[in-house]
Amino acid sequence: MPPNYEVCNKRFADFDLLGKTFVVTGGARGLGLSLAEALVEAGGKVYCLDRAEEPDKEWEDARRRVVPNGVAAWSIASKTSLNGAIVAAGVLQITPAMEYATEDAAAMLATNFAGAFETASAVARMMFKYKCGGSICFIASMSGLVANKGMVSAVYNSSKVALIQLTRSLAMEWGSARTDGSPGIRVNAISPGHIITPMVKKTFVEKPELKELWTNENMMKRLAQPEFKGAALFLLSKASSFMTGSNMIIDGGCMAHPNQSWTAQVSQDQPATV
Ligand SMILES: NC(=O)c1ccc[n+]([C@@H]2O[C@H](COP(=O)([O-])OP(=O)(O)OC[C@H]3O[C@@H](n4cnc5c(N)ncnc54)[C@H](O)[C@@H]3O)[C@@H](O)[C@H]2O)c1
Repeated sequence: MPPNYEVCNKRFADFDLLGKTFVVTGGARGLGLSLAEALVEAGGKVYCLDRAEEPDKEWEDARRRVVPNGVAAWSIASKTSLNGAIVAAGVLQITPAMEYATEDAAAMLATNFAGAFETASAVARMMFKYKCGGSICFIASMSGLVANKGMVSAVYNSSKVALIQLTRSLAMEWGSARTDGSPGIRVNAISPGHIITPMVKKTFVEKPELKELWTNENMMKRLAQPEFKGAALFLLSKASSFMTGSNMIIDGGCMAHPNQSWTAQVSQDQPATV
């Protein structure tokens, strides 16, 4: 154990977020919402930020589950400390590259890259101001790492690899403690595979053939639910205190074999794995 390490008899105390404050962008629904719920479950106070005027019905259900008698915040009401952020706000537009309108490409990058960068910078300013240190997690994608079959969205894919490099760059820039006593900030990313969220459900309405393609491309032969809570809690808590500049790939094994169709072929008789 490191010197002065506080050992207590609570289970997995390093994951405890009691007394910590977080923001989650894109927290109105989908993946962002489920990650916000994870932080609240671990004891954190979470502010969900989103461009939606009202949170999704799912948000109300999540609030009831994790804060049955308390108050969950939809907008920031008090500012005293900020310990972490999950940057999940993102948009997807599947359009062949030669048909992609310039303004659509700019809008995609404005949210998926510039918005994420601005969010992280604003969060870091607060963390250094409050001298509280903290952890930032970008939601990138496996589409930022491979030419993901059927993901005919060169701009989206590029925006996600940009986030992965942003992760490393900001981790380097903000990682160490400052001379004024402020601790450093850790910056990591999660790169999920295909998850059934409102974003993907809409994609399946536009391109129904993608459902089967994407289901068969990973080793588990199923799409993910928003089942990334453990990873987010790990990255936002003391449990990952020596981890920064990293990108956690959670894709059901999709990227583990370079020929994804081969993987689908050899396992076609096997049932989906839970
Ligand atoms: N669903 C997947 O398969 C998948 C896979 C890999 C990565 N991701 C990423 O996960 C993140 C969440 O995706 P999701 O599937 O839950 O999508 P979603 O569309 O269900 O939710 C995204 C949320 O972001 C919000 N948002 C969009 N633009 C915004 C902006 N400019 N400012 C504030 N909020 C904004 C939306 O209103 C929405 O509530 C995205 O960054 C997405 O790229 C999703």
